[in-house]
Amino acid sequence: MIEKIEHLKREQNAIILAHNYQLPEVQDVADYTGDSLGLSIQASGTDAEVIVFCGVHFMAETAALICPDKLVLEPHRNAGCLMADMITVRQLREWKRRHPDAAVVCYVNSTVEIKAESDLCCTSANSVKVVQSIPEDRPILFIPDKSLGDWTAKQSGRELMLWEGYCPTHHRILSEDIYKAKAAHPDAVVMVHPECTADVIALADEVFSTGGMGRYAAESAAREMIVGTEIGMLHRLRKDNPGKTFYPASPLADCVNMKLNTLEKILWSLEDRVYEVRIPEELAERARRPIERMLAL
Ligand code: 13P
Ligand code: SF4
Repeated sequence: MIEKIEHLKREQNAIILAHNYQLPEVQDVADYTGDSLGLSIQASGTDAEVIVFCGVHFMAETAALICPDKLVLEPHRNAGCLMADMITVRQLREWKRRHPDAAVVCYVNSTVEIKAESDLCCTSANSVKVVQSIPEDRPILFIPDKSLGDWTAKQSGRELMLWEGYCPTHHRILSEDIYKAKAAHPDAVVMVHPECTADVIALADEVFSTGGMGRYAAESAAREMIVGTEIGMLHRLRKDNPGKTFYPASPLADCVNMKLNTLEKILWSLEDRVYEVRIPEELAERARRPIERMLAL
């Protein structure tokens, strides 16, 4: 299967982009594995004609917005993100109506329709920088992740109005899990994702996007790390750092939607050129603006 995938990739001038939470064999066949920001940057810079995007739907949509001239394929059609579905356009419009002067910052984990209603987009790697780019006297509505929003507010010193969305996968990691992991591995550094709850973040030594975790694991002198994010990340960390040991903060932090892509589906995706991510141009034009503003920062 891997040989066939490689052959079709060359024949079609295609690349495979995979998020850090994908299945190990999917990460291994990808040309680039990274976090949401890294994947967007890769999509914007590639000269490939076809992008096979292995992640969840909002990520493939973001690639399609950034690369309107490329064919963006997702091997599985219904890989959603529970957090992205926690705010509707109607709810956002109503919130905006009540705060007409506010800037709307949307986490990239949002639908294309929500992006089209937002001023600026951000990822977990740049949320602090993004909110700091907004004039100090302008109120900010931060959607949909209350945990990332709370952490971003604390880090940036900016007051943010938070939507009540959250990532069910990251909220399965409890403070008890961190206490237990620390007791079992007293020399390990605790690094967690900002989608975790505030009490988990308060117990961490470091807070990073998944891309930041990858860089920290490679560069720091720490030999052992407790990893507070989706468990797919462990494959990437272990593969890149064979001399170091990584422990999951909780084995329950497993995002089912991130595990829907398989080698078979990647192969079918290239063979049949499915499933194409298509966004109506009028919607795409509006949704592209907050992403372009973010990438310009
Ligand atoms: P990052 O990889 O950008 O840190 O995002 C984590 C995530 O939950 C994506 O769905
Ligand atoms: Fe969405 Fe959470 Fe899964 Fe990421 S880990 S795709 S935020 S549900």
